[in-house]
Amino acid sequence: MNKKVYIETYGCQMNVADSEIVVSVLSKQGYEHTDDINEAVLILINTCSIREKAVHKVFSVLGRLREEKQKRDLLIGVTGCLAQQEQAALFRRAPHIDFVLGTMALNQLPRLVEEAKAGKKRVMDTGEYPDNHLFPPEVARRRSTAKALVTIIEGCNHACTYCIVPTTRGVERNRPWQDIVSEVQGVVESGYREVELLGQNVNSFNGGCSFAELLERVSEVEGLEWLRFTTSHPMNFTKELAKVLVTNTKVAPFLHLPVQSGSNAVLRRMLREYTVEQYLESLGYLGEGRAKLGLSTDFIVGFPGETDEDFEATMELLETVKFDSSFSFIYSPRPGTAALRLKDDIPASVKSGRLQRLQKRQLELAKESNLRFVGRTVQARIEGHSAARDGFWMGRTGDWKNVHIQAGDGRVLPFAELVDVTITMASPHFLMAEIA
Ligand code: 5AD
Ligand code: SF4
Repeated sequence: MNKKVYIETYGCQMNVADSEIVVSVLSKQGYEHTDDINEAVLILINTCSIREKAVHKVFSVLGRLREEKQKRDLLIGVTGCLAQQEQAALFRRAPHIDFVLGTMALNQLPRLVEEAKAGKKRVMDTGEYPDNHLFPPEVARRRSTAKALVTIIEGCNHACTYCIVPTTRGVERNRPWQDIVSEVQGVVESGYREVELLGQNVNSFNGGCSFAELLERVSEVEGLEWLRFTTSHPMNFTKELAKVLVTNTKVAPFLHLPVQSGSNAVLRRMLREYTVEQYLESLGYLGEGRAKLGLSTDFIVGFPGETDEDFEATMELLETVKFDSSFSFIYSPRPGTAALRLKDDIPASVKSGRLQRLQKRQLELAKESNLRFVGRTVQARIEGHSAARDGFWMGRTGDWKNVHIQAGDGRVLPFAELVDVTITMASPHFLMAEIA
């Protein structure tokens, strides 16, 4: 009997990690993962709801699946943040969905699939199970990628007024540090040399030790080459953590520290719990180590009440910090969030004008940052062959720069291994390199 499952994943790394867990959980029921949607009898959509655009994408995919379901026998399940947020309302908007699985109930999936298969309608579980991410370490069926994802903390105890995440992911739940270390040992034994620790707010980790201590303990795993983590909140960025980041050679020299805005008035309305000055002070903890670190951030522009002066303050912050990269978004009102009560009176054209200005300047800064590498020899982990150009390989440096490596003469570079490369050219988005 065909038991093929296809899973489509949207959103952040946590969703990618959840999809790996979901595939593993299903494999115990005899399901086999496929990359070809046409041969699947079970289709899972792992959704994101961080901004409205992400939600639109999900509904457009669901629309296409409605036609598919008319043609053949198919079970359709929805999981991820939109499932948690919308719950039973999803069945009203898309009646062809067979089941809805919440973000905190992944281990209930086999039961939901059985019930749906038995013909039960509108099967749903969006409850919270404490052992959601406490599966035995061998469970996650990882895709063949250059780094392994390991969830260490789920949920968020902050209450940023624009953010849907506390609703969709719940309050913070930590995994015990011993479980994390043993999962990392397991993935390293299975061949991974790079691990990324995941959480909505990794640096508030409290699973029996501090996050800085966790990094130290995980970094001792024999055979591990690089340890990464995402995402951090500036409020919980301690001197202790900064020290580990700049001194521990196993911890990859990269930090993503979302600032959101350069205006204290906006940060206050966002309830970010820090000022621009405090954010800069936190970066100061990195000391001289900052120069060797890739630094990235997130910005929201057009938050309700953002004046021209507020936006200029964001542009100023860009110049002060000179982030190596940044992700920027126009504010998107989310259901049930506190910011809905603020008057959103900035014209759409002003918002997009601001976003364009910020992104344009960021690209210039990214290029300047990348140009510093030209002529240098650095290590890059091979992520695979370029899809676009023959003889070119994709790699990633410790500080998270994309490298296009010209290997030449049909040479095959070793997947997931570190290779010394010499940087020959720089663009805002990537570095060009040759084998050193
Ligand atoms: N609108 C726009 N951007 C948002 N983000 C989170 N919520 C919203 C929203 N409602 C952005 C923040 C966050 C990143 C993951 O997504 O910048 O850091
Ligand atoms: Fe959302 Fe703020 Fe929590 Fe990040 S820290 S997940 S932005 S509430």
